[in-house]
Amino acid sequence: MTEKPEELQERLTREIATELQAELDHPLTEADWARIKEAVKERLRAELARRAAEAAKPKETEEYFVRFSFNVRAQHFVLAVGVLLLIFTGLPIKFHESAWAKYFFHVISLELSRLLHRVGASLLIGVGIWHMLYLLTAEGRREFRELLPRPKDLFDFLQNIKYLLGLSRERPKFGRFSYIEKFDYWAVYWGMVIMIGSGLLLWFHNLALGLFPKYVLDIAREAHSDEALLATLAIVIWHWYNAHFNPSVFPMSTTIFTGKISKKRMIEEHPLEYEQLMASSSPSPSEGEESRGEERAEAEQS
Ligand code: HEM
Repeated sequence: MTEKPEELQERLTREIATELQAELDHPLTEADWARIKEAVKERLRAELARRAAEAAKPKETEEYFVRFSFNVRAQHFVLAVGVLLLIFTGLPIKFHESAWAKYFFHVISLELSRLLHRVGASLLIGVGIWHMLYLLTAEGRREFRELLPRPKDLFDFLQNIKYLLGLSRERPKFGRFSYIEKFDYWAVYWGMVIMIGSGLLLWFHNLALGLFPKYVLDIAREAHSDEALLATLAIVIWHWYNAHFNPSVFPMSTTIFTGKISKKRMIEEHPLEYEQLMASSSPSPSEGEESRGEERAEAEQS
């Protein structure tokens, strides 16, 4: 935050008085204070003039690229809300004997917590169906192709390890999705199958007991319980590190909420996609966020 003029004046007075006092071998006299006042006035005037010139400068423009359509952002939002709800209401059941879980159920009753777990489950199932339908659209198919694992991902992974260990100075060059982002995407498929499959068996256990032997339900509960912990750790350690705590984006990347990525981050994090877009684009402005194929750099006031 910029200092207010009164605060600035106070600081300058303190600094100049200390500087002068260091040069003198006697306490500051009235004449010294008059000198200090003059010097403060001069430095204050210069500083305020510098600030005014700075403010009058035209704001630098920063270019942004549209990275995610509204559809993708909305899917991610529902998925995030659903999963957080499931984690917050599921883990206290798993660790029901611990003090924090008992306190949780004291604040939010067990009944409400179980109800919220089913609300979260419905959101997760809903967004899963939504995503399958999205994959039938042209945009969905295009994004899916980009997310398919390729041999290059393995080489990128090895190169990144070398880079991070200081054995190479070259970072791998990623395209639209890095192997890290692809891993995030495919881990959700695995998690969805296990959690929805076992969760439905637990939810409709009477019906399930009529269809399968009891040990199937026991396996479902074990799988649900263990995969829940694995999913929570994967989200907190892998996903949140890459999207939030990684120093290059800390405190968080807002791209999944705004859909936009700065040109600087685009060049650093997706250089191959950037080069491809530049090679295929003419300088006309972006024609809308749904059309990634015709995506262009958008100039915006930062
Ligand atoms: C990220 C997703 C999910 C997480 C992290 C999660 C977490 C958990 C955990 C930790 C438990 C306690 C298991 C135990 O007894 O040790 C649990 C129970 C349960 N979960 Fe989930 N779950 C998820 C998704 C789902 C889904 C999709 C459904 C339903 C389709 C579901 C339905 C249930 C049911 C019915 C129970 C039994 C407890 C009760 O009756 O309330 N869960 N969940």
